[in-house]
Formats: sequence, structure tokens, C-alpha cells
Amino acid sequence: MSIVSATAVAYPNIAFIKYWGDVDSSLHIPANGSISMNLAELTTRTTVSFTQPLSQDEFTLNGKPTIGKAFERVSILLNRVRQLANISSFANVESHNNFPMAAGIASSASGFAALSLAASHAAGLVLDEKDLSRLARIGSGSACRSIPGGFVEWQSGANDNDSYAFSIASPSHWDLVDCITIVSQEEKIISSSIGHSLAHTSMLQLARIADAPRRLSLCGEAILERDFDQFAEVVQLDSNLMHAVMITSTPSLLYWQPATVSVMHAVQSWRTEGIPVCYTIDAGPNIHVLCLGAEVERIVERLYKLPGVIRVVTAHPGGPAALENTQNLNK
Ligand code: DP6
Repeated sequence: MSIVSATAVAYPNIAFIKYWGDVDSSLHIPANGSISMNLAELTTRTTVSFTQPLSQDEFTLNGKPTIGKAFERVSILLNRVRQLANISSFANVESHNNFPMAAGIASSASGFAALSLAASHAAGLVLDEKDLSRLARIGSGSACRSIPGGFVEWQSGANDNDSYAFSIASPSHWDLVDCITIVSQEEKIISSSIGHSLAHTSMLQLARIADAPRRLSLCGEAILERDFDQFAEVVQLDSNLMHAVMITSTPSLLYWQPATVSVMHAVQSWRTEGIPVCYTIDAGPNIHVLCLGAEVERIVERLYKLPGVIRVVTAHPGGPAALENTQNLNK
């Protein structure tokens, strides 16, 4: 093995067609395909080194040594890298997000995408985009969508080999902006991992899955044709369907807060006024308000006037996960 240390950067992504429910929870093989956009202004930067003799993996997140669930997930991914590279050394992992953990923006997608790229390079592997996406998926399902750049589709596939993401359009293809509207800074009570495992308890999940290929193709087409109306219809429908499943699961998962609903109503009425805008919501109370670049200023101004809005963070389409630095200590 060529012993190296590597640093990679990756962006989180916002799903327009959501991943909710697995057919294989350990490999994160999803019940349906999904589509997302990387978020350029938000980054995770991760350095992996196999350079020191360690008795176990070490993981530091934003300067804090981390143990528990997050550490276990990192180790599972590192085990896969060790297996592929046929090595046994433990790794030191240092990861930094440029956005606060409490901002309601999931860092697991960018975190595991950056980790996959940095760890595979540090272990001497050269993986193509498909294999990197498959590797990132082991850490967190949505992380496979943070490997390719711009607008991305994750084909559900049926097994570890054919479940991966690819780019459907570059970041410069469409000037779409995600106005991430923070209405709560509290940690979410039920993680997405637990949520995925509850999806099948809702009688609506089967109907949601059955119609997913239609929504996926409508959304992909709307992005390729830059058709905001078609995009808005299908994105809001898909988010509402996922939340209908969440709310009707056992136990019921109601992620919305009163301020979430206020923003939903406002966005709906702005669309009725003729402004091209729509919303999508993940497994938490914060709400992603999507609009075209030309509308950002007036949308953000309006959002700040709504009750319960704490902060709005804007993000444009982001590129692929990228290697920043590698160091071969043998040379
Ligand atoms: C609601 O990828 O975070 O954001 O694979 O358990 O880490 P794990 O789940 P995760 O689930 C994302 C759920 C979602 C929708 C989406 O991003 O598609």
C-alpha cells in the first residue's frame, strides 16, 4: 500500500424527489429513485490519514473527538475501504462543516461523500464516480447523490452494484436557488435512519412508491427543460407525499412546526400571485424554498417577514465532490 493522507470537499444536497424507505437498510438500497441538487455554498472538508499506527479509527468532527453512532457509521465505511484496498490500518478522520450542525441542514450527505473520496484515495484506491457513489451510499443513502455534480439522479437499483447516482445536468445548467428557511435550530427527534425503517408502516407508502417513476421522470424532464411550473408541481407533490407517509406511520412522524406551515401557506400564495417559487421539506421543521436566481432577493425579503423565521441561507447548484490534496508519505 502506498501510504497517503487525502483531503476532499463535498456539498450537501436537497432532494426534489425524495428517498424515503429502504428495501435493504444496511446497504441503503432505496425503495424508490430520487433526484437532488448539490448546494454550493455549504461544504464539508474531510481529511483521512492512514499514516500513524493507531489501535482504532479516530474521528474528529468540527474539532471535537466524536464517538457513538456517528463514529460507528464512519468506521463501517472505513471497513469497506480497507476491504477494497486490502489493508488493515486504522485511520484518523478530521471533518469540518462550514455550516452549523444546528442549522437544520443534514451534514451526513456531504460528510460521507467527502469521507468516501478522501478515504479511498488515502488507501491508494482509484474509484470511478459510480463506485464512489456506491461507497458513499454505505455511509448514508443520500450521500451517494453528493458525489456527482449539479443536478443528480440516484437510480434505486436492486442491489449494491446498481444502486448509485449520476449527474443529469451540470451546476450551470439552471439558475435555481435553495432559500433554506430555518424555523428551528433544535436537533431532530427522529433520525432519517429510523424514519426510513418506519415508512412501510404507513398504508400510503405503497402508493407513493408505485407512482415514484412518474414523478422522477416529470422532475428530470422539468430540470432538463428548465420548466419551473412543471418542476414546482412535482417537487411540492413529492414532498407532500413523503410527509403524508411520515405523518401516517406508526409511530407518527410530524416534523412540521407552526412556522413550517406558515411558510408553506405563504409560498403557495406567492405562486398564486404568479411568482415562480415552491417548497420542499426534509425530515425536520426547516423548509427549503426554491426559486430562480432573479427572484432570490424578493423571496428572501418576504421570508424574513414571516412569523417564526430565524434565518434564511441561500444556496446555488454545487459541483461534484472533489479531491483537494493528497500526500504520499512514502515519496
Ligand atoms: C428526507 O440519506 O439522511 O432527506 O441513509 O439513513 O443516512 P440515511 O438517510 P438519509 O435520508 C434522507 C431523507 C430525506 C430525503 C432525501 O434526501 O432524499
